[in-house]
Amino acid sequence: MSAIHPVDVLIGRLPKTELHLHIEGTLEPELMFELARRNGVSLPYADIASLRAAYDFNNLQSFLDLYYAGADVLRTEQDFYDLSRAYLQRAHQDGVVHTEIFFDPQTHTARGIPFAVVYQGIRRALDQAQAEWGISSRLIMSFLRHLSEDEGFAVLEQAVPHLAGIDGVGLDSSEFGHPPSKFARLFARCRELGLPCVAHAGEEGPAAYVLEALDVLKVCRIDHGVRSLEDPALVARLAAERMPLTVCPLSNIKLKVYADLAEHPLRRMLQAGLAAMVNSDDPAYFGGYLGENLLACRRALDLSAEEVVQLARNSFEASWLPPAVKADWQRVISGIVGDWRAEQAA
Ligand code: ADE
Ligand code: ZN
Repeated sequence: MSAIHPVDVLIGRLPKTELHLHIEGTLEPELMFELARRNGVSLPYADIASLRAAYDFNNLQSFLDLYYAGADVLRTEQDFYDLSRAYLQRAHQDGVVHTEIFFDPQTHTARGIPFAVVYQGIRRALDQAQAEWGISSRLIMSFLRHLSEDEGFAVLEQAVPHLAGIDGVGLDSSEFGHPPSKFARLFARCRELGLPCVAHAGEEGPAAYVLEALDVLKVCRIDHGVRSLEDPALVARLAAERMPLTVCPLSNIKLKVYADLAEHPLRRMLQAGLAAMVNSDDPAYFGGYLGENLLACRRALDLSAEEVVQLARNSFEASWLPPAVKADWQRVISGIVGDWRAEQAA
């Protein structure tokens, strides 16, 4: 048996932050079948193996079709709790100390599930993970961009009684044909409410959508943003502003944004001075949680210890943790890297 690569050892030891994770995208096939049974929902798959076999996507839309269909098994507060609890347990095992998760309320309210049922189930699991494992978190309500801006306003209204426990808003779903500017008024309202804004942009859509997310929606983070690389002026701006880009490498491969992880621009993004970091997006569908994304990138791109540490530092820098807590985690990273280097030199 070959020894573990020393940089993989370092990856295992580093504290991790996840900034791009759709809670509905953590629904593992086993739990999907269990919830289907519990709620009397029939799934169009004979068993777990045939469901997994369907996870063979051509593009973002082919994934979204399956992802929205899978979410139909989520009906009760307990279902949303169980889903979130399973993710948080897995994240804890991966060394995730802080996570900022998206939820898509419109996927559920459209099926008649009350907003409060969705919110309270997720909230209970997040609060429990903080108390039990010390995992800090933020909750980001994401609007579905294939729906209208008015539908976004309707769900925002339902969220208002719960805003004490909602830390920001996002924009996700089908990117082509649904530019950020479609949601200019909605995001202006969210900013008035004091909600920090993020948006998926430049995943499949063009660099121009990243510009709109910055200038029209006034986001403080870009989710994905890999197609920004097609516009050198935009790259220079993103680097100068240290605008975080929540990159999701295994997602990009599963959704055919890149043919192979060895072609992924993660290293080029770091070299360009971008505040990029690694995230898992929809790990139950894309074949890997955060730790697996990092290990796969290290292998495919032969990332150095410096690059892996930069990714970890970028994650904490881009998080919504208070500055003093970020500084504490940066010191923890320095300590771990120092010990690891001393071991390597011995
Ligand atoms: N919803 C869940 N995952 C998504 C992704 N990768 N892009 C856009 N919307 C999503
Ligand atoms: Zn995403």
